[in-house]
Amino acid sequence: MDKIFKYSYKTRMGFMINDDSLQVLNDLTDNEINLVITSPPFPLLRKKEYGNKEQFEYIDWLLTFAKLVYKKLTPDGSFVIDLGGVYQKGVPIRSLYNFRLLLKLCDEIGFNLAEEFYWYNPSKLPSPIEWVNKRKIRTKDSVNTVWWLSKTENPKSDVSKVLVPYSERMKKLIKSPSKFYKPKLRPSGHNIGKNFSINNGGAIPSNLLNIPNSESNSLYFRRCKAANIKTHPARFPEKLPKFFIKMLTDEGDLVVDIFAGSNTTGLVSEKLLRKWISIENRLDYVSSSVFRFIDESISNNQIIEMHNLINDGKKLDISNYQPTQSLFDVDNKNVTYSLS
Ligand SMILES: C[S@@+](CC[C@H](N)C(=O)[O-])C[C@H]1O[C@@H](n2cnc3c(N)ncnc32)[C@H](O)[C@@H]1O
Repeated sequence: MDKIFKYSYKTRMGFMINDDSLQVLNDLTDNEINLVITSPPFPLLRKKEYGNKEQFEYIDWLLTFAKLVYKKLTPDGSFVIDLGGVYQKGVPIRSLYNFRLLLKLCDEIGFNLAEEFYWYNPSKLPSPIEWVNKRKIRTKDSVNTVWWLSKTENPKSDVSKVLVPYSERMKKLIKSPSKFYKPKLRPSGHNIGKNFSINNGGAIPSNLLNIPNSESNSLYFRRCKAANIKTHPARFPEKLPKFFIKMLTDEGDLVVDIFAGSNTTGLVSEKLLRKWISIENRLDYVSSSVFRFIDESISNNQIIEMHNLINDGKKLDISNYQPTQSLFDVDNKNVTYSLS
């Protein structure tokens, strides 16, 4: 991989590439990627500094990437795409772009909708101000649609890797089942049998993901502050890619983010021991994303030096600066990075 790509930095598990992801995707081998997970720039009315496409051209633009993603995924691979809702210009009417895109992804490219997810972010600020705060005719939009698409009907997936804690009621039920329920056919038609009270180590998660996006004290933030560099304006929280990477891939699998921004996906993949390739076309985001990977035993000055080298177009191998394996907490194959 070193020979093929002009990476900006490489870690033990992956490569951060500063380029247009269309180019890089083209160069990747077909049927090689286990999971592409990404959050593209949305067709926002209030543009972010990295630029956002207008709504009329957005779908065709994104489909060019999606076609290549389809080609590059393994037959049991998945494509997870996070899309924020937007309003149409000047009216309190929502754009249907995320739904139109979904239809085209399935009808024109051939993806299957394995499941639709909704990411509820309670920390989202109310917007647009005109409809929500001033006129008070619309509620706060705090849910993104996250489409989980697959190339075939049976993508690799294991929900038991992403179980959530049992509710208090379920914990009591597991302790003394006879006190709380009797196996029987419910009015809904569900046949609740004896197995209902078996402790499986956690509950099946739902497709509503409640994940606040409120990170403000991570290694990345602290390092950006020390270097007097602005943080990326539209990061997703680590828990979002973590959920899908754990559920849809195994250790050693390849995860790709084609709109990588501050490289949250790369970091999470690294922690979960997945190989990764992240692609971001803005060099400033690429260079500051290196802060995510280097532990605090390295001084701010050294880190800023690395950041500057990347900005000068140098290729960095930072694997020696990363925490050693002993700094990872390995618990039932759930690997967490103790330093971030
Ligand atoms: C919503 S942000 C992704 C943020 C990321 N999920 C994170 O946690 O930091 C989308 C990113 O896509 C990048 N981008 C836009 N077009 C691109 C392209 N053709 N190739 C690579 N990156 C692109 C933008 O510069 C922006 O940083």
